[in-house]
Amino acid sequence: MTDFEYSNGELYAEQVPLARIAEQVGTPVYVYSAEAFRRRARDFRDGVAQAGRVHLAFAIKANPNLAVLRLLANEGYGADVVSGGEMARALAAGMAAKDIVFSGVGKTRAELATGLDKGIGQFNLELEEEGVVLAEIARSKGLVAPATLRVNPDVDAGTHAKISTGKAENKFGLPIDQAPDIFDRLAPLGGLNLRGVAVHIGSQLKSLDPLEKAFVRVGELVAELRGRGHTITHVDLGGGLGVRYQDGDVPPTAQEFGAMVARVTQGWDVELMFEPGRVISANAGLLVTEVLWVKPGVTNPWVVVDAAMNDLARVALYDAHHDISSVKPSGERIVANVCGPVCESSDVFAKDREIDAVKGGDLIVLHSAGAYGATMASTYNSRPLVPEVLVSGDRHAIVAGRIAAETIMDEEQVPDWL
Ligand code: LLP
Repeated sequence: MTDFEYSNGELYAEQVPLARIAEQVGTPVYVYSAEAFRRRARDFRDGVAQAGRVHLAFAIKANPNLAVLRLLANEGYGADVVSGGEMARALAAGMAAKDIVFSGVGKTRAELATGLDKGIGQFNLELEEEGVVLAEIARSKGLVAPATLRVNPDVDAGTHAKISTGKAENKFGLPIDQAPDIFDRLAPLGGLNLRGVAVHIGSQLKSLDPLEKAFVRVGELVAELRGRGHTITHVDLGGGLGVRYQDGDVPPTAQEFGAMVARVTQGWDVELMFEPGRVISANAGLLVTEVLWVKPGVTNPWVVVDAAMNDLARVALYDAHHDISSVKPSGERIVANVCGPVCESSDVFAKDREIDAVKGGDLIVLHSAGAYGATMASTYNSRPLVPEVLVSGDRHAIVAGRIAAETIMDEEQVPDWL
């Protein structure tokens, strides 16, 4: 099930040949399928609808492009944001402030104040002091901040250590056993409408078991809080659902996830909130890159492409796997290493991988790059920021231009005493 398919021997995004986009925009370039975003957004919504009243907040860190956010707003999604910059994007894309959830372990006082001024729908608090400060700022403005406590349920998400967030030793959330007392102290504060709890245990989860374990603990907490006389109307169950990156990956479907949620949360009588990121976006995008050189190696050749770890950081950071295929397959197969031009040994997209035989000038793609791709790009090695193109049917548009190294240099100054 992909929106990038071959027709007459070449790879398309919906009805647009990727080679045409590469020719017009240059490479490397991220290409997204609007239809793929829409289908996954609807799929997730249908899945969790089994659980009753839900609020959907796309975790925009996964793909904060304004056009993508507008598309998802049109599908009824709000946003989960973790910085003032993400908040500004969600609003600029036309998302209603009340549909935005403000998460994050280190919100600044200025960001909290801006969130209040904009009328952000919910603040997920990471520590007691943050709640005290938010209440103070809200009172000074004559406002009331809707908020939840984000708890850390101490559950092993069984994912890569660098994207695990729900173990006691992780920096996220407050210990679940301390939550009732903290709730008791924060709830009476003027300026705060402490209305529920939030949880998010990690990303690229391949099994529902750790999620279920975490949600069961959250259910027990909700009962305990109600027992202490608190009114609980909202529970935010975070994101984290895994996706297929390669053959053999069989992530839970949105339907399976929704069925589990419906079973575990039965009788909670709250509005359930979700913060999906990857599951909506990963397989709605890919990175198109041109082969620069095929350089002989000791065992296998090095296919040097014009995309690098600064454009797609996931392989270097998490040893992630991204499938690779040719835009116009040669029909011949080779075993090769695929690397970028950056001066780091970790700038390698694949080792000892069977791919189509390629030569300089050929185009290849790195699949499943719609989540945590362009958003994590940097200008390391003074490389430009990679552009993004959105395809819908037979139309396509540049939705983020290539930001040249010179533009970034313009912001630098050499002091006159040098
Ligand atoms: N909510 C919170 C509070 C989060 O921290 C995250 C992701 C999400 C929702 C969305 O999770 P998702 O549904 O996308 O799994 N850069 C890494 C992933 C980092 C995820 C951080 N938090 C990667 O490329 O794998």
